Amino acid sequence: MTHYFPGFGNHVSTEAVPGALPIGRNSPQRPPYGLYAEQLSGTAFTAPRAENRRSWLYRLRPSAEHPPYRPYDGAPRFSPPTPVRPLAPNRLRWDPIPAPAAPVDWIDGMETMLATRDPADLEGVVVHRYAANRDMDTRAFVNADGELLFIPQAGALTLLTELGRIDIAPGHIAVIPRGIRFRVLLPEGSAAGYVAENFGAPFRLPDLGPIGANGLANPRDFETPAAWFEDRDAPIALVQKALASLWITTLPHSPLDVVAWHGNLAPYRYDLARFNTINTVSFDHPDPSIFTVLTSPSTVAGRANADFVIFPPRWMVAEDTFRPPWFHRNVMSEAMGLIHGAYDAKAEGFAPGGLSLHNIMAGHGPDVASWRGATEAVLQPHKIDGTMAFMVETCWPYRPTEHALAHAQPDYDAVWDGFPKAKLP
Ligand SMILES: [Fe+2]
Repeated sequence: MTHYFPGFGNHVSTEAVPGALPIGRNSPQRPPYGLYAEQLSGTAFTAPRAENRRSWLYRLRPSAEHPPYRPYDGAPRFSPPTPVRPLAPNRLRWDPIPAPAAPVDWIDGMETMLATRDPADLEGVVVHRYAANRDMDTRAFVNADGELLFIPQAGALTLLTELGRIDIAPGHIAVIPRGIRFRVLLPEGSAAGYVAENFGAPFRLPDLGPIGANGLANPRDFETPAAWFEDRDAPIALVQKALASLWITTLPHSPLDVVAWHGNLAPYRYDLARFNTINTVSFDHPDPSIFTVLTSPSTVAGRANADFVIFPPRWMVAEDTFRPPWFHRNVMSEAMGLIHGAYDAKAEGFAPGGLSLHNIMAGHGPDVASWRGATEAVLQPHKIDGTMAFMVETCWPYRPTEHALAHAQPDYDAVWDGFPKAKLP
């Protein structure tokens, strides 16, 4: 049973062996038990204090000790370059990722769908999906390009990270910061879901403005794991994603050997059922930013590098209001996924595990069936239940990968065919 510390971005001190954590200094001349002290910086040394994220790790061996990396080609759909040819401004949608035909772990089961920017820009977001049926027993992964937001859709995941063990299932999310090494185990034998990769400022909780001191995702509901480590002197392959390419090296021991750590740069998990959903009690529904769980700001105030937004179960009570998401054209770009249930703007064709893209200025909104139903509905209080959709919204237009372009549904545009013309007097 893993112990978790509650709270978002807290300074945690934790040791898996009593006495392993130095007291009163970060880098003593001789750390306890001969452990190696290492600082992991998630922001620049000189970042403002409120944004500064770093942790000190005390480990069996320094992570600097590793052989050279060589190219890794075992995951051809994971982070391939996106096509540079012109991208038609069409709306796109995809069916769920198929179950793997052969045994693959989380690394090899990753497929990149939508990408923005280059990791070297230190801004941008990428949307991946995974389908895996094999534990990462003798392999670990580390991403130098950004933090990873796990959004499971089917099957539980155990994330064994340098800083602790995180268990999540569909309905939970987890974030693993840039640079933290981990293994992914599949307690149910197989799993599928989404991963959003954030090259920019680390995800944080959005400001609440007039909402007040409480609401949306509350800080206390985020959970950071206690120190945990494995003392395993057997070869393990370490795959690293760096500058959008995959590389591999072999270590003679597990890299998950951090016996104690302290700091505020750490993986965490969150149960989406804890989200305090706020919406209208009069008319019109607020912009979907009201459903923001986590945000990564850009350098322009109010314009997110990435927003992680959910569409959770909620009461619909608005009077004289078209209640589903309205028709919309957006300067931001919207990638949507579905964890379970049905999304209230699409009657069919958007299955759990599916994905859609409404890029910059693409007209979108309810399909004809959803529009008709909502237009004719008797507006009683009504609960949308048994559903969880999400959006990764970004100010950077997405470019689908070649694989994504080749597998898009051929007829998504037809969803918006057949609207009756308005009748003027
Ligand atoms: Fe939209």
